[in-house]
Amino acid sequence: MTTADLALPIKSAEPSTSTMKALVYHGPGKPAWESKPRPTLQHEEDAIVRITTSTICGTDLHILKGDLSAVLDGRILGHEGIGVVEQVGKDVSEFHVGDKVIISCVTACLRCDFCKKRMYSHCRNGGWILGYTLDGTQAEYVRIPYADGSLYALPEGGDEDAFVMLSDILPTGFECGVLNGQVKPGDTVAIVGAGPVGIAVLLTAQFYSPSEIIMIDLDDKRLAVAKQFGATTTINSADGHAADQVMKFTKGAGVDVAIEAVGLPATFDICQGIIGAGGHIANVGVHGKPVTLHMEKLWDRNISLTTRLVDTVTTPMLLKIVESGKLQPHKLVTHTFPMKDILKAYDTFGNAAKDGALKVVLKAEEVVLKAEAQ
Ligand SMILES: NC(=O)c1ccc[n+]([C@@H]2O[C@H](COP(=O)([O-])OP(=O)(O)OC[C@H]3O[C@@H](n4cnc5c(N)ncnc54)[C@H](O)[C@@H]3O)[C@@H](O)[C@H]2O)c1
Ligand SMILES: [Zn+2]
Ligand SMILES: [Zn+2]
Repeated sequence: MTTADLALPIKSAEPSTSTMKALVYHGPGKPAWESKPRPTLQHEEDAIVRITTSTICGTDLHILKGDLSAVLDGRILGHEGIGVVEQVGKDVSEFHVGDKVIISCVTACLRCDFCKKRMYSHCRNGGWILGYTLDGTQAEYVRIPYADGSLYALPEGGDEDAFVMLSDILPTGFECGVLNGQVKPGDTVAIVGAGPVGIAVLLTAQFYSPSEIIMIDLDDKRLAVAKQFGATTTINSADGHAADQVMKFTKGAGVDVAIEAVGLPATFDICQGIIGAGGHIANVGVHGKPVTLHMEKLWDRNISLTTRLVDTVTTPMLLKIVESGKLQPHKLVTHTFPMKDILKAYDTFGNAAKDGALKVVLKAEEVVLKAEAQ
C-alpha cells in the first residue's frame, strides 16, 4: 500500500486540527501530560476516536516501572477507553462518524492466520499495540487501526464506567484466568492479586459456580472489596505465609485452580505452592523478571500451567452480560479524575492501598463540564 493509496477519500466529522493533550512516556518513572500532534487517518481501515472515558491498567504501572522495554520514549500510554468516532477511512464498514464505541485493548485485522485462529492477541497486523508500540488512549484522540475488528458499539445509553471494563480487564480475567484455568462447578479457586484484573477473574469465575474462591493480596481494603464481590475467603500475604494458610484451609489438598494476577516471582511462587494434583495454574500477570519453575515439586502433580495475552474473543459475550446487568463492573470504579489530572490518577492507582483505589477512571474535559452543569 502506498501513501497515495492511503490518502483519501475519508468520511469525517470535521478536519482534524493540529494538537491535543496526552500522557506521554519518557522512560521509567517519567510520564508527562503534554501536547502531541493529533492523530490522523493513515490507512483506509483506521478510525480516529475522540476519547470520553479512559482508565489506567496495572500494565501501565509495569510500563512505568520499566518492565516492558518495547515501549519507547515519546509513546502515548493507555489501552482502555470509550469515545466517539470522529473520522473513518473509506474501508471501515461497521462504524460511522458520531458512533459511540468501546476500544478493545487488542487490535484485530480479522484476516491473518492468528486472527483466523481467534488469537487476536497475536494478530500479524495488530495484537496488543495500543499504548505499547502504537500511541494509546490516555489522550484526547486516538487512531485505531482495523477499526472494524478493534471497536465495539457502545449500547444505547450504556454507562461508560461499566462498559470501559470491556476494553481489557473483563476479557483478560475471563480468558487468561477463568477459561485457561478451566474453572468448573465445585472447584476451589485461588486468585493471587485483588487488583481490577484479579477482581475481574473473581467476577467471571462465578459464571461456573466454584465452591470456594480464595483471594490473596497485601491490601486489606482490596481484600474487603473482594469479599463483597464474592470471595469466600481472603488472605493477606504480607507475612509470607499465604501458601501455608491455603494448604491448611484445603486440608493439605491444595486448590484446583490457582490464578496469578500480579506479575511477580513471589506471587507466582504462591501459585506453585498451593496447586493441587490435577490442578491448573493460569498466569495472567505481566512479568518483568524471571520466575523459578519448581519442577522438583511439580513434575508428578499432573498440573497444567498456562500463559496468555488476552485475545478479546469473549468481548461480545461479556458485552451482553454487562448489558443485561448480570455483571456490574461500574462498581469497580473508586475514583474519577478529569483527564488533565491523569498524573494524580496514576499516583492514586499506583498507591492503591493508601486511598482505597480499585479502578481509576479518567474523563474528557467536555464530560466533566457536562456533569458539572447538571
Ligand atoms: N495477560 C494479559 O493479557 C493482561 C492484561 C491486563 C493486565 N494484565 C496484568 O494483570 C496484572 C494485574 O493488573 P491490575 O490492573 O489488577 O494491577 P494492580 O497493580 O492494580 O493490581 C495488582 C495487585 O497485586 C497486589 N500485590 C502486589 N504484590 C503482591 C504480593 N507480593 N502478594 C500479593 N499481592 C500482591 C497489589 O496489592 C494489587 O492489589 C498486572 O500484572 C497486569 O499487567 C495482564
Ligand atoms: Zn491492561
Ligand atoms: Zn490479524
